[in-house]
Amino acid sequence: MNFAGNHILSIQQFERDDVDRIFDVADRMAPYAQRRRITRVLEGAILGSMFFEPSTRTRVSFGSAFNLLGGEVRETTGFESTAIAKGESLFDTARVLSGYSDVIAMRHPMEGSVAEFAAASRVPVINGGDGSNEHPSQALLDLYTIRSEIAARGKSLDQLRIAMVGDLRYGRTVHSLCKLLGLYPGVQIVLVSPQALQMPAEIVEDLRNTGHSVLESEQLEASISNVDIVYSTRIQEERFNTQEEADLYRGRFRLNQNIYTRHCEPNTVIMHPLPRDSRENARELDDDLNDNPNLAIFRQADNGLLVRMALFALILDVVDDVDTHARDVRWYTGGRF
Ligand code: CP
Repeated sequence: MNFAGNHILSIQQFERDDVDRIFDVADRMAPYAQRRRITRVLEGAILGSMFFEPSTRTRVSFGSAFNLLGGEVRETTGFESTAIAKGESLFDTARVLSGYSDVIAMRHPMEGSVAEFAAASRVPVINGGDGSNEHPSQALLDLYTIRSEIAARGKSLDQLRIAMVGDLRYGRTVHSLCKLLGLYPGVQIVLVSPQALQMPAEIVEDLRNTGHSVLESEQLEASISNVDIVYSTRIQEERFNTQEEADLYRGRFRLNQNIYTRHCEPNTVIMHPLPRDSRENARELDDDLNDNPNLAIFRQADNGLLVRMALFALILDVVDDVDTHARDVRWYTGGRF
């Protein structure tokens, strides 16, 4: 695809070559993300950051990625701080805000809303999550992480075995990740969820129609014993009609060190898009895994910077100029990476 000037709304717009291109550019962003070098290639550019649902990683890493490329961020969080609370349409909001920004990152609770906004926007829009539909930049950083973790274990993406666990019905990250893994023919996927929270049938069907092995299960222990990656997700309580309904499923699948040791192959990678739910009745990924070197969740979150920097550089067409606007940093940067 031609990235310059285009929206990023769904994983379905990518071919495998496009993903390779994003990952190549992401690799080149490491010196900047790790604060060894600074670049001012986007000096003067403005990111409109519009998050109408809670977010820590996506919102802050999109903003930081833009800052690290030298641009500035104008941030809106929550409906109550915009004129949408006074009845303004997404169309009008998009027309106005795209006059103030060079690119927009947006999260919204309704499926399809970011695409609706993008259709009216005069600048590229990146989907930071639209309801339970998609979260394409998360899937890209997840796959970037998977690639790096399994390469360190002598394996490649084409033979990947992955178990996705938890709320697969409402979890937009796993929807996008399944679509992305569909580009890699030999991938074997095990989907572990309560029956009521299964992966949408059309996503499973698309994977099977393209020759992928997909198993569905309600048994955690049996499903994680022959995989390279366990990708855990939280119950998406904000998508349920009532807390009581979410409580039926919360805590149903808990991975802790004991279960990991007894059932996983050595060096199985543990991932989670975060936030993990650390409340007592949830704990889908227990804190007792924090010292396990195979817990990749914070490396995964760090990779969000690289991938989002790459998306900005590609969309705003400055990939080849990043290094020419760069210099070494002068402040202490040790210890983090
Ligand atoms: N993974 C993710 O989307 O996290 P946030 O909700 O904190 O952005």
